[in-house]
Amino acid sequence: MTSFNGEAILETKQLSKRFGGLYAVKNVDISIRPGRIHGLIGPNGSGKSTLINVITGVYTPTAGEITFKNEILPPERASVRMERGMVRTFQTSRLFEELSVIENVMVGAHCRTKSGIIPILLKTRGVTAEEKNVRERAEYWLDFVGFEGDVCQKAKALAHAPRRIVEIARALISEPDVIFLDEPAAGMNPEEKLCLMELMCRIGELGNALVAIEHDMKVIMGICNIISVLNFGTKIAEGTPTEIQTNKAVIEAYLGEAKKNA
Ligand SMILES: Nc1ncnc2c1ncn2[C@@H]1O[C@H](COP(=O)(O)OP(=O)(O)OP(=O)(O)O)[C@@H](O)[C@H]1O
Ligand SMILES: [Mg+2]
Repeated sequence: MTSFNGEAILETKQLSKRFGGLYAVKNVDISIRPGRIHGLIGPNGSGKSTLINVITGVYTPTAGEITFKNEILPPERASVRMERGMVRTFQTSRLFEELSVIENVMVGAHCRTKSGIIPILLKTRGVTAEEKNVRERAEYWLDFVGFEGDVCQKAKALAHAPRRIVEIARALISEPDVIFLDEPAAGMNPEEKLCLMELMCRIGELGNALVAIEHDMKVIMGICNIISVLNFGTKIAEGTPTEIQTNKAVIEAYLGEAKKNA
């Protein structure tokens, strides 16, 4: 992991993404620092997932810059961004259903393995030592995230909450500098959410930067050091949980959403 001593490790400048006539993300400046839990909130459709998709290389930006570890990033695939040290989980679960829990986590190590993950999963000769190492690391991260079930069961057998934490283990195994979680608490019960909050704090303590999109305000306000708020693709506020809870523009954005859903 790279040390950035509290300086921003990732910055966006005037980052925009347009789909046809719609700006999903518009002129967003955001600064991500190591050791901080950075919340990203905003009403439905405000551009949170798109912002992460653009940063992690899923989409190419329409305009703007992304600086990571002091380097302005060229357009490049998500897999290259991952090799650089950015990982993410998706809003909807994306495990390989027919692979076991531990194999799913091992897949996350592929950008750091010499042989690549396919030979390891196929148990090709010559990769035994590396496989052992990757397997041990997968066990370590499964333990770290608090996975308690059978690591040999297929992913398709998992309930919702264990599924989400296995995805977090899969992200952590690549030892990222920045980890993005897209709505990790969605669909969890209050007890599961508490475990997740505790896990997110421990991830923050590892020294990497954690960025979490989340609708559950208890989760966000409970653990974030800083929160950025999007509305219609634009950053409308940024600050500590206390500042955000009393910010007029934020309250109005959410009241607008409440009216829309009424
Ligand atoms: N691939 C796409 N093609 C066209 N429009 C898109 C695409 N992805 C997102 N959008 C649009 O961009 C806007 C922002 O969507 P995005 O998914 O980023 O919002 P969000 O803040 O993550 O919302 P939610 O809280 O519902 O997940 C929405 O209007 C959405 O319909
Ligand atoms: Mg989203």
